[in-house]
Amino acid sequence: MRDVDLPLELVLCRCEEVTVGEVLELVDRGITDPNELKRLCRIGMGLCQGRTCGAALESLVVRYTGKKPTEVGFLAARPPVRPVPLVDLAKARDVDEAEFSDPH
Ligand code: FES
Repeated sequence: MRDVDLPLELVLCRCEEVTVGEVLELVDRGITDPNELKRLCRIGMGLCQGRTCGAALESLVVRYTGKKPTEVGFLAARPPVRPVPLVDLAKARDVDEAEFSDPH
């Protein structure tokens, strides 16, 4: 494995308090798939759902293992892509289909 030149206590996922050290410990055990890492240490399971920390996780694994990004893979996106207030979802039910397909 390569030196990533990052402090092990650096937090990758603020909401689940997952550090670089925790992730690298799992990678050292042979786990490099971002979705498997997510299941094991909860990175990407917080408020951002991987929109912020997902790229950091993928980049860390790529740098540490020396693999190509396509070999490492990507964190699976989970809907909703953005937080949506429930009131907006309730309103969307009443939107006319023509109005919905033409935003202008
Ligand atoms: S920063 Fe915690 S889920 Fe992304």
